[in-house]
Amino acid sequence: MLYDFRSFVNPGYYAFGKGSFNHLGELIDRRKENDKSWTVFMVDDFFKGKELEERLPKTDKDLVIWIDTTDEPKTSLVNKYRDEILEYRDILPSVVVGIGGGTTMDYAKATGLMVTNPGDSADYQGLDLIKNKGIYTICVPTISGTGAEVSMTAVLSGPEKKLGIKCDYTIPDEVVFDPELLATVPADQRFYTGMDCYIHNVESLNGTWINSLGRAFAEKSSELCVEVFSDTDTPRIESDEKMMVASLLGGNSVTYSQVGVCHALSYGLSHVLGIHHGVGNCIVFEKLEEYYPEGVKEFKKMQEIQKVEIPQGVVAGCTDEQLDLMVETSWALEHMWNNAFGPDWKNHISKEKIRELLLRM
Ligand SMILES: [Fe+2]
Repeated sequence: MLYDFRSFVNPGYYAFGKGSFNHLGELIDRRKENDKSWTVFMVDDFFKGKELEERLPKTDKDLVIWIDTTDEPKTSLVNKYRDEILEYRDILPSVVVGIGGGTTMDYAKATGLMVTNPGDSADYQGLDLIKNKGIYTICVPTISGTGAEVSMTAVLSGPEKKLGIKCDYTIPDEVVFDPELLATVPADQRFYTGMDCYIHNVESLNGTWINSLGRAFAEKSSELCVEVFSDTDTPRIESDEKMMVASLLGGNSVTYSQVGVCHALSYGLSHVLGIHHGVGNCIVFEKLEEYYPEGVKEFKKMQEIQKVEIPQGVVAGCTDEQLDLMVETSWALEHMWNNAFGPDWKNHISKEKIRELLLRM
């Protein structure tokens, strides 16, 4: 046995297909207990003033929190949103809806939990530290690839570490997959986030924790990613729909196995430089031929077809202290190294090697 036994939970309900978002109000109403029940909408502020804002099924009791996604999710902001919700009405909301990408969905997942768990969200960064079930959470992805809509973790940067709040309760209760919501995503963001999914698959398939279940999810997800980013003739709505499925399956592939070298390094990079997860993974992954030769080759092919630039030299201006913190953040992600190399992972990677790899970025 390479890792502790665990029986994994998935979201309880999926709504899938074009136009699903039109039914969000019905899904919320199903969770209301009485006429005092209310809803929190946490929405990527990209949609402020856009058509989607008009389409939110909100009543005058509900609260809308606009999420600035410039930075990766922070424990301090989770605490702030939680306080705002607790002060808003004298009863707890029945539903928290997260509408956006990985950042917004992770805020919704973490905030929904912190409404019913006292204290600082930084104290819950880790595995199974949450005590109480959170508010019923519905995730609505508007960009696909992170797998946040199906994952049991809400990744947060705290004062000390970048680490997820990870437990069964972090899984959203319901997901609405409507590919029409992906229409406005710019090409480079679409690629970076799509490649996060592709990399989940490469890392789980090449890891030591993989089993037949994780493999089945990862292989199909990978096939869909390659179709989406290699074929430029398919109408966008069709490839967006495929990418939604790829993200769901890729998220599950890492649930049933684990990520690896690229994610461990990119967590270090984002924690120190605030680089977004998707692009951070791309920056790292293209330099990892030595660990994932086939994956990197295919990645570069897709990148060429999509004509997307990957930022270079991002570590060049870092101080020694910043580099040290990057190395320590990466090194601390034992489960990722363990999946990548096995229980004797310390024989395969060292802090010096991590530093050397980071200096290539
Ligand atoms: Fe990821």
